Amino acid sequence: MTSTSKVEHFQPELGEQTTPTQDKDQVHRVLLGKKQILVTEDEPLLIQLERAGIHVEYQCREGYCSSCSIKLLWGQVSYPFEPLAWVQSGYLLACCAIVKSDIEIAFFD
Ligand code: FES
Repeated sequence: MTSTSKVEHFQPELGEQTTPTQDKDQVHRVLLGKKQILVTEDEPLLIQLERAGIHVEYQCREGYCSSCSIKLLWGQVSYPFEPLAWVQSGYLLACCAIVKSDIEIAFFD
């Protein structure tokens, strides 16, 4: 039986890279400038960025304040619960966003 699923490959210029210990099917690339980290869908983005040594501003870590807002240049994230803070179009809340595809983020416009 043949598979009809589409697999896309790209090779961004790589900077630092970390490797999570999760199942490969759930691993996504997060590009931030020349850095790349690998994340899973098991934890919010903020925790995984911090683990990779990337500092993100935050206050509540629960979706209330929006201080962890990060520009989402492309890619998909989801929220396991509806954040109370307003999520501006083109941004994500790192403390509660679950990365669902390869994404590119930026801290500044
Ligand atoms: S740290 Fe408050 S919404 Fe993310």
